Amino acid sequence: MRIPFIAGNWKMNLSLEDALDFIDSIKKDLPDSNVTETAIAASPLFLQSIIDHKKDSQLKIIAENCFYKDDGAYTGEVSPKVLSEIGTDYVIIGHSERRKYFNETNDIINKKVHAVLRNNMNPIICCDETMGRLQSENKIHWVVNQVNASLKGVSAEDAKNIIIAYEPSWAIGTGTSASNDDAQEGCYLIRQTLADIYSDEIADEIRILYGGSVNYKNVTSLMEQRDIDGVLAGKSSIDSNDFIKLVNYKKNQNK
Ligand code: PGA
Repeated sequence: MRIPFIAGNWKMNLSLEDALDFIDSIKKDLPDSNVTETAIAASPLFLQSIIDHKKDSQLKIIAENCFYKDDGAYTGEVSPKVLSEIGTDYVIIGHSERRKYFNETNDIINKKVHAVLRNNMNPIICCDETMGRLQSENKIHWVVNQVNASLKGVSAEDAKNIIIAYEPSWAIGTGTSASNDDAQEGCYLIRQTLADIYSDEIADEIRILYGGSVNYKNVTSLMEQRDIDGVLAGKSSIDSNDFIKLVNYKKNQNK
């Protein structure tokens, strides 16, 4: 069974003080992790403090990025080994903002996926898609290509520990989410690609998220889609009240 995964991605938005206040205000209202797994992606500057602060809560911690080497002379980079040492659970790899502003290629992303797995954490691999490609019918090729490239050399056993996020860049931060059908189609394509690489059984076990202008109002209908197992929310994860409503979408459904 794939447990729903609802994650916030703060990006470079909060101060350390805001971040700790946020954790304090949400930790008692999180759903049980057997029902919905919840997580926050934060700057490496905050991770240790957040991990100390969230003690005894079921919140999982995500790093927004890391380097592909464990140690060495790489000034300014974030070591996956140290992320693991401090208790990080997941690492976002290949977010469209990393691809766009920091020139991350499929090859770099693949190396980072291996680095995260090697250090016993779980990668959340983001697949992007531009508006141009959506319209030019190259969507299938584009997404399939990114999934294939990011998983090169990843064993079936390790693949069970990954999460993939379908995040069309035209929906990120724009306030316009993909339609339920488009989001489902993207996630379905990813699952088919995983089945081609591994097997139907493995593809069935891997969680696939949708990201791009998700909020507490549209999360329920997105989560009803067959191949959407969770969401990655940017803007609507900055306010703790919004985030609490988002992660408790199942409760709100019954109101
Ligand atoms: P958004 O960001 O929710 O602000 O669109 C999503 C993301 O970048 O993961």
